[in-house]
Amino acid sequence: MTNGASDPMGGERPAGTRPPAKAKPPTSGRPTAGTREPDGADHPALRGLAAVWLRANCPCATCQDPGSGQRLVSITELPADVTVTEVVASDAAVEVVFGPDGHRAVFGTGWLARYGDPAVEHGPEPPAQDGTEPPAQDGIGPPWQDDNRTEEAKHLWAAADLGGELRQGWWPRYLADPAHRRTSLSAVLTYGVVVLHDVPCVPGAVLAVAKSLGYVRETNYGRLFEVRAEPTPANLAFTRLPIAPHTDNPYRDPVPTVQLLHCLHAAADGGESTFTDGFRAAALLRSQDPAAFACLTTTPVTFAYSDAATVLRATGPMIGLDPRGRIRQIRFNGRSLAPVRLPAARARSFYAAYRAFAERIADPEAAMTARLSPGDCVIVDNTRVLHGRTGFADGGDTRTTGRRHLQGCYADLDGLESAVAVLARSEAGRAGS
Ligand code: FE2
Repeated sequence: MTNGASDPMGGERPAGTRPPAKAKPPTSGRPTAGTREPDGADHPALRGLAAVWLRANCPCATCQDPGSGQRLVSITELPADVTVTEVVASDAAVEVVFGPDGHRAVFGTGWLARYGDPAVEHGPEPPAQDGTEPPAQDGIGPPWQDDNRTEEAKHLWAAADLGGELRQGWWPRYLADPAHRRTSLSAVLTYGVVVLHDVPCVPGAVLAVAKSLGYVRETNYGRLFEVRAEPTPANLAFTRLPIAPHTDNPYRDPVPTVQLLHCLHAAADGGESTFTDGFRAAALLRSQDPAAFACLTTTPVTFAYSDAATVLRATGPMIGLDPRGRIRQIRFNGRSLAPVRLPAARARSFYAAYRAFAERIADPEAAMTARLSPGDCVIVDNTRVLHGRTGFADGGDTRTTGRRHLQGCYADLDGLESAVAVLARSEAGRAGS
């Protein structure tokens, strides 16, 4: 059980704040004057937050570990009939006394404002898509943005919106300058892809890039995999054939959420890389063909891969939504889509929807084409941006293996987002000191 009013930590003011003055009764704001909230959380300084919400988020040392910030009290240990019995507000802090046990909490006013923003209550607002440069993601996001992985947190693009080139960074500067590293990695969160130039053309360098943003995800392909034409390929990626836009490994659960590809040797002819914003294609489908969008968001399909040592299967919709209906994950790979298990009528509508989505993905104006040079390393959000390539010849001799050579590996967005947030926090700390 939590301590009550006798808990000295629960009533402490943040260092440096003035002693709170007794607050005036609310005369305006939420809730409207004259109404009483049943839990007593009427004071405007509480920003419309419920008594149980405030109590569950009490920052006192009894409720949260001061070192880790982790919660020490479970929901079942809180009084079920918690109320607010007293509020004392100053400019910097709001002190709250809860009933029925007299527990005290002190909240920073800025912190309450962040969570008591009306946008939280009224639902998230979509970001402007008017071609203006969105703010770089700092891994924390604005208050209304509860999940940085959904379409709301992204800048959706067609090739023309990118001005003809991918967002880019330079590996030596990336290593030396934390601000450049943050900008480069933020581009993956906002646009879904960035290219780092001047990564040393040595085998395994892609692993150093992956480690710089998180952790390498080892798979049945190894810690890294070679992308080059092979005499007996186990995967069409390891041929000279063109590869249509796709997300990697939808047959894996969980799917690797970041893919890295490092160019060691470019093809003499062809072999250009393509990148397509799958969130934009899905958003277009939603506005132009709502029935197809609904079909692809509600029809689970299975992707499968097997070889001599591996049998992998995973199931999910081609367009994954979050619980609020926002686009959150694309699974799109015609090579590994297993036969769908649907009655004939539903199969017809599914394939029509699949075609409609594929046509928007295949729109030449949607795809950003980039010829990777030796030393270029692309970092791709594999839940959003589809990658592909044109076919290549390397002199046209089909009997020998081509010279185009990339090395790839997988990592994950949570690590990348953490890296960006840590860099942003360090920058903020330097700016504030
Ligand atoms: Fe791929």
